[in-house]
Amino acid sequence: MTLSQRQWLDRYGQRYVIEVARSGRATTIPAQAPLDLRTVFGRDRELVVEIGGGHGETLTAAALDQPDRNYLGFEVFEAGLAATVGKLAEAGLDNVRLIAGDGVDGLRHLLTAASCQEIWVFFPDPWHKTRHHKRRLVSPGFADLVASRLKPGGYLRLATDWPDYADWMTTVLDSHPALRRQADGRFPTRPITKYEARGLAQGRVITDLTYQRVSP
Ligand SMILES: C[S@@+](CC[C@H](N)C(=O)[O-])C[C@H]1O[C@@H](n2cnc3c(N)ncnc32)[C@H](O)[C@@H]1O
Repeated sequence: MTLSQRQWLDRYGQRYVIEVARSGRATTIPAQAPLDLRTVFGRDRELVVEIGGGHGETLTAAALDQPDRNYLGFEVFEAGLAATVGKLAEAGLDNVRLIAGDGVDGLRHLLTAASCQEIWVFFPDPWHKTRHHKRRLVSPGFADLVASRLKPGGYLRLATDWPDYADWMTTVLDSHPALRRQADGRFPTRPITKYEARGLAQGRVITDLTYQRVSP
């Protein structure tokens, strides 16, 4: 972490970062009582969850654009979390909360069935070698979990800069009975993040995917 990231975290961490029960590995979120979202946000609103937000560009832009929604970000990388806290504080936002930990654990243990209007996964797993494929975030089990956490009619949005990961995402998600691929591509306020800019500069093509939870 840089000095300024440390300072953002010290100064504004309490405002944005929610503490949850921990056990074992630092990023693991064990089984525990789900979050009381009304208490966490101080209001009841549609919830948008981002897994692996990196430096927080997307959450910050979205929370400014749609202040009527609540946003919850999971990030395992402490410097990314600190950078996000800095951006949120600079923007004066109060509709975003962050959790330092694994977003899959978080979806499973901290959020209840049909609690999310949207779930976002933009550029997960930057490692693209074949030996890393077994660690991919998107999997049949992940699709089941996402489908259960989305409200009926809610959306899963994803992006990747690796064509074979895009193929894998569509193979896994197209075959899920509760998810239906939508024609919409990138939503207009999704910014080009530092990570995406690097992919573009290296000539990679970005694939945006949207799925709607269709079953009741
Ligand atoms: C390649 S970066 C992309 C960041 C950002 N989404 C963007 O569009 O620029 C992936 C990020 O996801 C985080 N990450 C990966 N797996 C995660 C998980 N299971 N839970 C939370 N964060 C995760 C990594 O720490 C990293 O910051």
